Amino acid sequence: MPEVQYHRDGDIAVLTIDNPPVNAIAQAIRAGLVAAIARLESDPAARAAVVIGAGGTFVAGADIKEFGKPAQPPALPDALDLVEAATKPIICAIAGNALGGGLEIALACHWRVATPKARLGLPEVTLGILPGAGGTQRLPRLIGAEQALEMILSGKPISGSAGHGLGLIDVLAEGDLRAAALALARQVVAENRPIRRSRDGVAEADPALFQQVLARNARKWQGLKAPFKIVDAVRLATQGGFRAGLAFERQAFLDCVTSPESRAQRHIFFAERAAQKIPGLGDAKARPIGRAAVVGAGTMGIGIAMALANAGIPVALLETNEDALARGVAQMAAQYRISVERGSSRADQAARAQALITPATDDGALAAADIAIEAVFEDMDVKRQVFTRLDRAMKPGAILATNTSTLDIDAIAAATTRPEAVVGTHFFSPAQIMRLLEAVRGRHSAPETIATVMALAKTLGKVAVLSGNADGFIGNRILQRYGDEADMMLEEGATPWQVDEALIGFGLPMGIFRMRDLAGLDVAWRIRQGRAARGLPVPPRQSAIPDLLCEAGRFGQKSGAGFYRYDGRNALPDPEVVAHCQAAAAARGTASQVPSAADMVDRVLCAMVNSGAELLAEGVALRASDIDVVYVYGYGFPVYRGGPMFWAEQQGLSVVLDKIRGFHARYGAGWAPAPLLVERAASGRWDGG
Ligand code: CAA
Ligand code: NAI
Repeated sequence: MPEVQYHRDGDIAVLTIDNPPVNAIAQAIRAGLVAAIARLESDPAARAAVVIGAGGTFVAGADIKEFGKPAQPPALPDALDLVEAATKPIICAIAGNALGGGLEIALACHWRVATPKARLGLPEVTLGILPGAGGTQRLPRLIGAEQALEMILSGKPISGSAGHGLGLIDVLAEGDLRAAALALARQVVAENRPIRRSRDGVAEADPALFQQVLARNARKWQGLKAPFKIVDAVRLATQGGFRAGLAFERQAFLDCVTSPESRAQRHIFFAERAAQKIPGLGDAKARPIGRAAVVGAGTMGIGIAMALANAGIPVALLETNEDALARGVAQMAAQYRISVERGSSRADQAARAQALITPATDDGALAAADIAIEAVFEDMDVKRQVFTRLDRAMKPGAILATNTSTLDIDAIAAATTRPEAVVGTHFFSPAQIMRLLEAVRGRHSAPETIATVMALAKTLGKVAVLSGNADGFIGNRILQRYGDEADMMLEEGATPWQVDEALIGFGLPMGIFRMRDLAGLDVAWRIRQGRAARGLPVPPRQSAIPDLLCEAGRFGQKSGAGFYRYDGRNALPDPEVVAHCQAAAAARGTASQVPSAADMVDRVLCAMVNSGAELLAEGVALRASDIDVVYVYGYGFPVYRGGPMFWAEQQGLSVVLDKIRGFHARYGAGWAPAPLLVERAASGRWDGG
């Protein structure tokens, strides 16, 4: 039962916020806070108060589960008004997380004590909202508008030490937090210090700041509402009038919290967490990963080694020979240099991480590793040879993971004597940056193996989604299907740049053709050739256009031409592509009617959803929301649209089904509605609830 406990330690009241696991501010906490302040005021034995969180952490914010439901008083801003107005000094004691409403409680208190490692942040923007309990008004008054804007717009927490540097934290508690807060409370009382209220401060700012921030982020904020409201709210804070600022913030919060964008972002928050819950793992525990090995120092191997080292895990990086190794190491050093130049990591951090990577050509380097991640050529024979070697060289209990993007995990596992320890870890390029990791469960992968890679992903700061061992796993299987559909539009007379523009209009950061050019068209070409050689059928809506481009030596950006032609990294429309499209259309006899932009978007999204429904029915994806997580974190699907499966629910599954039936009638094979979509259309929910 969530509560705010009231105890006394001598003449100091201690208010403990207790709502495990993260002390979220549920209604009972808000009511408890109001009651505790009233008790403090009327308690003659209490001369000041300390507010602290139970369980070694402060408060992770409002209870997100209450959003979108009827408001249950008292509202947090009102409760915090009472905290700030209290006539006895209130000291906030912060360990662990003080996020969102949690930090806003701290801002309403009169003094703040924190541990150096405490995490202080206003992450609301990541949920499509803005701080709704005074954060936009009190924070700028404490640390200045520029720093406050940075914290609120990035949503990223800062450490207690950094907060101390900014003046947000008054005292850093190196030892016992409670004792430090009590000591400060006693000192404030003993010195009879006047109460300091954040609302009385002045928010300093250069008036040009707001225009600059808006101009800098125009592109990034496309489709979002909250960042604009945040800028307006902080600007108001610099213009005086605390009450007017609070009223604006409240209204803006209510506008945002009821918006479709915020609903979608909240869906992703819970979807990300749901993806970590895997049925059937029983009480399998993740094994500790103290050391890792990466085999193959190519594009992916380097990125994976960096991801591990950046998380503090020592890595042996293996190649076939010294030359290849030297090339890989040089590329890795260049990547680290770029990350420092761009300011995404500090020079000392980069140097520390790099020092954790030990290049090697000898299998002896594998012996100490708890996991090896293989990232060699996408070739089954090569992979099987590598796995036989790994099996021999690695210690018992170690995990053997493959970064394959298309190959059968079971066939790879069969090259070892320990298929239970074999698993897919499909990273996305660049692996040190992209947040998604598809963990692929082979037929024999043990629960402990799965639990270990899921936990490892978290250590790396990534979001893992479990996929079944099926062609293309979750992400690329869907990509394949809507990529085919987009190619068909080219046969109908659309150009790659028209299709890309339509998808960017929907909110994708990059169109599908530009993305495929970036990844390289030859990879998929080789896969198609391999399928043909094995006598596998050609999917019904597969166009010949990508083959024609590859045959003409157009492999994408790296060869200077693909669906576009390239001037450096600039993609330019190319009439030669149109000629290839016309040739493919003529060969197939495709009727020429250029689809409208709306039709392009509908067809791409419906193809994604239909394909997603098939993956669900086959059990390749465990739940619809897993597919959303894959698309948001791995393929740049706009988070404010919540992923393709959430999009479909918002449209109405029956509406999407009708569209798919329409496409089926128009285009035939390849568009048959997925039976699961037909089944779930009536309830409108993927979970059938
Ligand atoms: N509300 C409700 N539930 C929450 C929650 C919140 N604010 N924060 C976390 N939880 C839940 C999670 O859903 C999860 O539940 P399940 O176990 O049922 O899945 C559980 O708490 C543990 O969370 P994590 O798995 O994420 O645990 P972690 O240790 O990895 O991370 C955390 C902890 C850093 C606090 C992370 O949960 C987090 O970032 N939480 C959200 C913080 C946030 O966005 N706060 C702002 C809320 S909005 C707000 O406060 C508006 C306002 O101004 C009033
Ligand atoms: P790459 O060609 O850049 O690198 C492969 C490296 O492996 C080369 O440096 C090669 O010398 C090395 N190698 C080959 N055989 C080896 C062996 N026996 N022992 C040690 N090293 C060996 O390839 P890339 O792009 O890094 O891909 C690697 C794997 O990752 C493939 O399975 C690919 O399908 C997969 N993948 C690739 C993605 C991408 O965007 N490039 C995305 C996700 C997965």
